[in-house]
Amino acid sequence: MSTEERPIVVVGSINLDFVTNAEHIPAVGETVCGNEFQMHPGGKGANQAVAIARLGYPVKMIASLGSDAPGDQLRGYLQDAGVGIEGVEKVDGSSGVAMIVVSDRGDNCIVVTPGANAAVTPEVVDRHIDLIRQAGLVLTQLEIPLPTILHLAELCVRAGVPLMLDPAPARSLPASLFKLVRWFTPNETEAAFYIGDTHPGVSASGPSETARLLLTQGSAGVLLKMGELGAYLADQGFEQKFAPVPVKVVDTTAAGDAFNGAFAVGMMLGKTPQESARFAVAASALAVTRAGAQSSMPTRPEVDKLLASQVQI
Ligand code: RIB
Repeated sequence: MSTEERPIVVVGSINLDFVTNAEHIPAVGETVCGNEFQMHPGGKGANQAVAIARLGYPVKMIASLGSDAPGDQLRGYLQDAGVGIEGVEKVDGSSGVAMIVVSDRGDNCIVVTPGANAAVTPEVVDRHIDLIRQAGLVLTQLEIPLPTILHLAELCVRAGVPLMLDPAPARSLPASLFKLVRWFTPNETEAAFYIGDTHPGVSASGPSETARLLLTQGSAGVLLKMGELGAYLADQGFEQKFAPVPVKVVDTTAAGDAFNGAFAVGMMLGKTPQESARFAVAASALAVTRAGAQSSMPTRPEVDKLLASQVQI
């Protein structure tokens, strides 16, 4: 199979997002009044899969949904978006949910309850191993069990398929995992977690130093997602900062998912890592101009148009 024919496979979470908009995100012990409530399809895995589909590239998911009504709805959303769902299993119990507060500035905070996402075990991946073997690139995140991520990473290395790990939500990872990862893609908060307390964090140490520290952990390449500061790519001997695309921020939820999906599509289309990062910055800029997670993912013509309107520096 040539590279262009190989689908991207996402092994990850699917959630129903309960989203409340409020003037600001409450502090500990504070109650605030919300001004709007909505439910959206979400989950980092599903969001990345939908981002890829919206950009016109073939994508399949390996995941678990519950036997509840949201499970059926979430499956329907994926199907409608064009995501291949033969690897999405149904398990007894609730689907994953996320409680999200979005402030007037577009910032968010999220609490995820895994539900069926906890049932994405190594055995589930094994049942769909052919999807992994046929993939051009595999994407995963940390909303499914860690043993599954490790197992998947080992399978990807054995199958010669590059793995992109979005290390979110941040949690301690075994040292052996990093060496199996082609692209490690934290945002600033997650990067600060992974470089540890002994370092002053991304803003103080700068993206170059942060990326260098992350690379020493073993992944082949690092993509730092810096929100309104753009992105930073460090990969096997070169590094580059990518300026943000200025936009009016409505909701930053899933901007990182748009970025990962778009970077993956760029790479599969034969773009260089630098071109793919630029493409990803533009896709995530478009995503923050819209409310919701999957509903905010841009199409390829939208991203191309935005890129064409930018003066390349
Ligand atoms: O990255 C955004 C996503 O994080 C939301 O859709 C929510 O479901 C959580 O998984």
